[in-house]
Amino acid sequence: MRIVESPEAMQRLALDARRQGRTIAFVPTMGYLHEGHLSLLREGRRRGNLLVLSVFVNPTQFGPGEDFASYPRDLERDAELARSVGTDVLFTTDAAAMYPAGYATSVTVEGLTDTLCGRSRPTHFRGVTTVVSKLFNIVQPDVALFGRKDFQQLAVIRRMSRDLNFPVDIVGLPIVRETDGLAMSSRNVRLSPAQRQQALALVEALRQASAAARAGETAAAALIELVRRRIEAEPDARIDYIQICHADSLQDMNTVDEQTVMLLAVRFGDVRLIDNHQLMKEL
Ligand code: PAJ
Repeated sequence: MRIVESPEAMQRLALDARRQGRTIAFVPTMGYLHEGHLSLLREGRRRGNLLVLSVFVNPTQFGPGEDFASYPRDLERDAELARSVGTDVLFTTDAAAMYPAGYATSVTVEGLTDTLCGRSRPTHFRGVTTVVSKLFNIVQPDVALFGRKDFQQLAVIRRMSRDLNFPVDIVGLPIVRETDGLAMSSRNVRLSPAQRQQALALVEALRQASAAARAGETAAAALIELVRRRIEAEPDARIDYIQICHADSLQDMNTVDEQTVMLLAVRFGDVRLIDNHQLMKEL
């Protein structure tokens, strides 16, 4: 596995690979890798013959007072895990290289970013779409893999890619969970043992809502109320949002069908967790 630290060197390597006819599969991450990230890399390994992983904790997608400074980082461990699943290139760089003095350009997707996480984190998605655009230009991928864990992010990146004609096939993959059901996240290590236990309320609430929906309760308001009560039973849980949305448009829905997703964001102390589930499917 090659480790590449400058955007220029990465882009040269990628352009050479494309000229040689290689298919580049790309997994962008902020590191502190877990099974969710590894599932994307394994699928990327199948879909391309040059597998590129990026590890970059992107400062522009964190708002003031958010956890940029305390975001977990361990590049050595990441490199080890990346090697173990057959990654060819680990691209890791720093903010000074990505956003040099005078940097002035950003990419914004409108509409889709006004709801859900975009409402409580108003500058977040601009940071994400800008860095992902830059990474696509640096890594030149044929295919890029994203997790459905960040459901809104995936929808926003699909829209950006379509709107800006990026020649990249965007692939979304299922949420990987811990054995007890908690969605894997690099942020889970920042939960105290008590908060880690309470955080199971997210998946349990989604499970209850999914069971109720499949048993015939299709009113979104009733399902949201059910979930609110389950999560509010945990003393440290602070609900950011509970919404039922159309999977593509992210518009709020009054009734549930095959196209609807329930999405949650809940804070435990200063750790903000998200989860989601397509309610008509078993969880
Ligand atoms: P990060 O949170 O590191 O996530 C990188 C990728 O891993 C994302 O596509 C995310 O959806 C996926 N992922 C995280 N947890 C997952 C899980 N439990 N199951 C399946 N996939 C999971 O998302 C970002 O980084 C950044 O916003 C980024 C796109 C890299 C831009 O900075």
